[in-house]
Amino acid sequence: MPQRPRMLFSAFNEFVLSHHDQGLWSHPRSRQLELNSVDYWVEIARLLEKARFDILFFADVLATYDIYQGSRDAALHSGMQTPVNDPAVLAPVLAYVTEHLGIVVTENILQEPPYTFARKMTTLDHLSRGRVGWNIVTSFLPGAGRNLGHGGLPSHEERYGRADDYMQVVYKLWEASWEDDAVLGDRGSQRYVDPAKVHEINHVGPYFDVVGPHISEPSPQRTPVLFQAAASDVGIDFAGRHAEVLFTSLERSTAGPNIARLRAEAGRAGRKPEDVRIFGGFAFVLGSTEAEAQRLDAEYRDAQSIEAAFAKFSAFWQFDLARLDRHDKLTEILNGTDATDSVKKVLRFSPDLDWSLEEFVRWVGSRRIAGTPEQIVREIEDWQDLGVDGLNISYVISPGTYEDFAEHLTPLLVDRGLMRAEYAPGTLREKLFGKGPHLPGEHPGRQVRALIQG
Ligand SMILES: Cc1cc2nc3c(=O)[nH]c(=O)nc-3n(C[C@H](O)[C@H](O)[C@H](O)COP(=O)(O)O)c2cc1C
Repeated sequence: MPQRPRMLFSAFNEFVLSHHDQGLWSHPRSRQLELNSVDYWVEIARLLEKARFDILFFADVLATYDIYQGSRDAALHSGMQTPVNDPAVLAPVLAYVTEHLGIVVTENILQEPPYTFARKMTTLDHLSRGRVGWNIVTSFLPGAGRNLGHGGLPSHEERYGRADDYMQVVYKLWEASWEDDAVLGDRGSQRYVDPAKVHEINHVGPYFDVVGPHISEPSPQRTPVLFQAAASDVGIDFAGRHAEVLFTSLERSTAGPNIARLRAEAGRAGRKPEDVRIFGGFAFVLGSTEAEAQRLDAEYRDAQSIEAAFAKFSAFWQFDLARLDRHDKLTEILNGTDATDSVKKVLRFSPDLDWSLEEFVRWVGSRRIAGTPEQIVREIEDWQDLGVDGLNISYVISPGTYEDFAEHLTPLLVDRGLMRAEYAPGTLREKLFGKGPHLPGEHPGRQVRALIQG
């Protein structure tokens, strides 16, 4: 069989009862009710390592989804991304019970001062022996802004302005504050650190003034591997400058131009194409025959909570879908004036404009590939042909999706060269890029060294 280039695999998760397939926690095969048990997450992490996943990725939010009907009730009823625990607290446990799995935590730049955040990530990087990543988000939930002392979400532009300043601070702390040979650890002279090699950063920016120095010694990767999922012009510009792993649209049919744009943006920022990885993503349902997979998929679709889907998409699309009649056909909504232009743009993605709004929300909330293992592998190959380097795999039922993956997909993927049979040694950055543990020289995070160390 002709060998394919290797792909990267990330498990798209959140420290919650229900991440994307709302309501399926109630299915008899699901163990998601164990969300507060460390044993459950340890089992998932070990299972992912058995399945040869590269990354366990934790999304995160800091507010309930309360746009739909102006209420948080639908999200709470269905446990949809609420309650949500802190992934950074879970991360060291998962690192301890695994050897190779990368652990990526999301943290919002409004959440805590860059100084304490930099220390937290350095600590995680030490404890995981260099296996952490950071998904940089600016938040899309107005409630997060209210909860974090901003009285609401700052404007999109301002959030990205803050994010840029935040990055400058953490880069200076991670990359430049401590020289490579600052730590002596010399028993004879009883000197642990050479003070001359530890520098204040004296950052004065539009949002943050930070003197430093960094309060932790450099960790194996210094800067955690940087992830970002941007969709807007300003977001993609930011991702092109900073992100090492960039997420594209999770819809294969529309992802092509976006992939090309993300790569071009990184190039425009002076970065090398091989220093950027682009991920698509999907969810799947497996059957030993196509008919069995379709039957199972229909069963899951029927069990899915439509109210929670309305709540989630009201937040994603920043529009209370309760303002529309769910029984109206999409054609009527598109011709009417009740929906905003950006909502209409999403509705036009529907495979059938004769569907009602409810049919569309049900479809968009349960989009996945149902098929035999060979058909799922073909889907992975199609994504690869489109130009992505990796895939973020959402679960439908946890940990069932990962058990299915380990048992039925991993052996086929290894056979085709799409997955490696054994992990490569080293930090997460070394595993993903096949180079060194640190940011490459062209990356803006590495370039701050010259500013501080001369
Ligand atoms: C795969 C993926 C994961 C994401 N994870 C989070 C998350 O955990 N928390 C969050 O607030 N936003 C998350 N987002 C939203 C993005 O960070 C971003 O805000 C969104 O794509 C809109 O892009 P923009 O910031 O350029 O407007 C995610 C988006 C995608 C596609």
